[in-house]
Amino acid sequence: MNVQVYKDPAQIGKAVATLFAAQVVKNPDCILGMATGSTPLPTYGALVELYEQGVVDFSTVRSFNLDEYVGISRSHEQSYYRFMFDNLFSKINIKPENVQVPFPASENLEDDCAAYDAAIDAAGGVDLQILGIGHNGHIAFNEPASVFPFGTHIVDLTQSTIEANKRFFDSIDDVPRRAMTMGIGTIMKAREIVIVATGADKADAACAMINGPVDPQCPASVLQLHPAVTAFLDEASASRLG
Ligand code: PGA
Repeated sequence: MNVQVYKDPAQIGKAVATLFAAQVVKNPDCILGMATGSTPLPTYGALVELYEQGVVDFSTVRSFNLDEYVGISRSHEQSYYRFMFDNLFSKINIKPENVQVPFPASENLEDDCAAYDAAIDAAGGVDLQILGIGHNGHIAFNEPASVFPFGTHIVDLTQSTIEANKRFFDSIDDVPRRAMTMGIGTIMKAREIVIVATGADKADAACAMINGPVDPQCPASVLQLHPAVTAFLDEASASRLG
């Protein structure tokens, strides 16, 4: 795993946005893997700037998002679908029909999961995926477990993730209890992966991901096995690396 340490989240945002823009310039028909949460916001802000400067054209880009809550509508202000339009898609020229966010809404959620993996495969697979990391080492909603889940699946959120996400909802009772998420196998199929960790509260998770054993108790540690991963850390999240 290639590890790069930057001063602060804004610097990381610029660096990762440049990587994404370079990917699009090199291959205008590429497939981008997108993430939600606070971590990618500086990257999305910097990507919007590059778009406004005329540096990058998203008109033939397609994208797949990592995950979505079960049980809230797409127009809900905390849906990840809405997050992506509010923070990126409505600010660049990506075509709405070219973006996919998991949509766990049918009678049979397992079918939705299988269809999502099939859609990624049919599109040719993700060229460049951005990830954040949870305090417990999760990536997307793949929580610590005894095995690495392979494909897209439905998960029960852990109490720590519900706690971490309650800041976005009126109360903890409003936080959805389940989500649909790409599996570890789905994520590992991406040709190139960028994982971003910022803030001192991510220092333990970043250290376990980079220096710990490959262990499903720290889902992000699986990235040590991927041939093209770069971890972007700020000084605070890199403080335990030694
Ligand atoms: P955050 O979430 O970016 O809001 O810290 C990251 C994650 O839980 O994957």
